Amino acid sequence: MVRVQVPATTANLGPGFDCLGMALKFYNTVEMSVYAEKRLVIEVLGEGAQEIARDESNLVYRAARMLFKKVNLGPPGLRIRLINNIPLARGLGSSAAAVVGGLVAANILAGNRVPFREILNMAHQLEGHPDNVAPALMGGVVVAAVVEGEVRCLKIDPPPGLKVAVAIPDFHLATHAAREVLPQQVALADAVFNLSRAALLVASLQQGRLDMLSTAMEDRLHQPYRASLVPGLKKVLAAARLAGARGACLSGAGPTVVAFADSNLEHIARVMKETFRENGVNARTLVLEPSTVGVRALEIKTK
Ligand code: HSE
Repeated sequence: MVRVQVPATTANLGPGFDCLGMALKFYNTVEMSVYAEKRLVIEVLGEGAQEIARDESNLVYRAARMLFKKVNLGPPGLRIRLINNIPLARGLGSSAAAVVGGLVAANILAGNRVPFREILNMAHQLEGHPDNVAPALMGGVVVAAVVEGEVRCLKIDPPPGLKVAVAIPDFHLATHAAREVLPQQVALADAVFNLSRAALLVASLQQGRLDMLSTAMEDRLHQPYRASLVPGLKKVLAAARLAGARGACLSGAGPTVVAFADSNLEHIARVMKETFRENGVNARTLVLEPSTVGVRALEIKTK
């Protein structure tokens, strides 16, 4: 049996649409073992226990099957146990965690025959964009570009002291629905606006210049359009900054909002929750730290 732990991730970080993401110290666990007979048994505990498929359409299973096929094995009978903390369809990378957890657990069972680079490309293929799967695999902040289907990426360490206040609305927003509201073309001025912020954001994170984040986390490519799907979004972002956040943005495709700061995180989280409530949205909050490690195998203690 193998047990792997996969971090939640927050993608885009404001301006870095589809290319920037950060791993968070908030984890799902995937346990996987091979059955001699060709049978699939899936157990789900925690988040999504009522909703997640337990048949061959299960995302962790689909990722595992892809890996086994790649090495010309099986797929064998599998027992999969998911212990989930990451809420589904809220913009915290639950599907990336499922894909990465499934691929990496299966790769260990298959004798680690598939190299990291290929795991990353397979994860991207299943997920459709690299900005959650890359940090889920590598940890830290990851900058990713896709070149003819291949992910090219670099990890940078998050600045020391950076913490993340997270407000998670109690409704689901599917990424594909949140992509449908985006325009196919944007004005050159908006493209330049985002390019300059995204570049500044990477430099700010590398140099620990949290004072730059209020500018560096601005966005014109996706948040203005997605505001129609997340009641109060603009107000929550503004309230977080007023409460002391260095920068704030929609987490991935939303509806979760994240705010970056080095102090007063509980206060910032509370203000975000209250502002959501004033806009008719119930939200729960977390205060998290960036995770510098990505997916990893956990030791299994045998009695
Ligand atoms: N970058 C993607 C989006 C989210 O904003 O649609 C990744 O899950």
